Amino acid sequence: MLNSSIHSTPNRGPWGKSSWRGNCSGYIIKDLIEHFKPSKFVEVFGGSGTGYDVAQSLNLNNSVHLDLNPSFGQSFSHESELVCGKYGGHNLLIHNIPGADFIFSHPPYHNIIKYSGEQWGEKGKGHPDDLSRCESYEDFIKKLNFINGKIFSSLNNGGRHATLLGDVRSNGKYYSIIKDMAYFGELESHIIKVQHNLYKTENKEYSSKLIRIHHEHLLIFKKNQIWQIPITAVKKVFKDLRASKIPTWRDLVQSAVEDLGGIATLNQLYSVLENSEKAKNNPNWQAKIRQTLQIHREFRSIQRGVWGLNLSYTAA
Ligand SMILES: C[S@@+](CC[C@H](N)C(=O)[O-])C[C@H]1O[C@@H](n2cnc3c(N)ncnc32)[C@H](O)[C@@H]1O
Repeated sequence: MLNSSIHSTPNRGPWGKSSWRGNCSGYIIKDLIEHFKPSKFVEVFGGSGTGYDVAQSLNLNNSVHLDLNPSFGQSFSHESELVCGKYGGHNLLIHNIPGADFIFSHPPYHNIIKYSGEQWGEKGKGHPDDLSRCESYEDFIKKLNFINGKIFSSLNNGGRHATLLGDVRSNGKYYSIIKDMAYFGELESHIIKVQHNLYKTENKEYSSKLIRIHHEHLLIFKKNQIWQIPITAVKKVFKDLRASKIPTWRDLVQSAVEDLGGIATLNQLYSVLENSEKAKNNPNWQAKIRQTLQIHREFRSIQRGVWGLNLSYTAA
């Protein structure tokens, strides 16, 4: 039942293949169908057939399930020929998506699990348009955005796109797909799905302070207008702290001492900060730096005109 923003089912149910890496619980698809009662259900990124099996068990006679894997089902030829069933060889980067009032998608989580050449197809031979084989994370997000745009366009007005996505960690770096991708339509619900039965390699003990990922996100977008699509796109910018009006003098001086290796002369600090936004707006900026060093306990005097960091000070 979908009655809260947390979805947690310890078992995935009898649908699809439990041996298929990266499959999803059939309960999430079952609960979506039972909650929204779509008149036409389309599933893309069909994988091991979990969605198809769920639709069959619910006697849904108007559902279409698609995947790039040619062995997923009948051969896809044209979206106008699709009747209820499973179709393989459907490439979301190229082929069209049939109209529906509900589309469920469960894309690869970047390259965490490779599909073509591993889960299906000739061993080691990846498909160039397989989203689990993108050349970079940026390329993955770009392609996912394109596909999400296509999914959204294909919906009937009033229709919904529910997408299941995980966060991933690779070489210690955290990637939040749902924060980096574009949103098409109004976000109607954000459900946290608790991840049970993690695959054994994902279950490894972390030796560092990294916190294990134990959840996925189910986002539900609604199409509320025929022509005007609200699109929220993410832009990442890098800005030098010194060019910003936000940091305080303490923040700037601390960063300058850090940048200079933890110990700095006054002249070195002046030269690192002289072009900062704050210095440009303060005719007495050198005096301000000296005052900052004296009044904040994050700094310690090493000798006349030389300062170091004292970040482990204890409050008096
Ligand atoms: C995470 S799996 C889906 C698992 C599925 N929900 C299940 O329970 O078995 C992602 C699927 O996306 C498919 N895929 C990757 N790139 C694709 C593309 N360009 N077009 C269509 N399907 C693609 C892969 O073949 C894979 O089966």
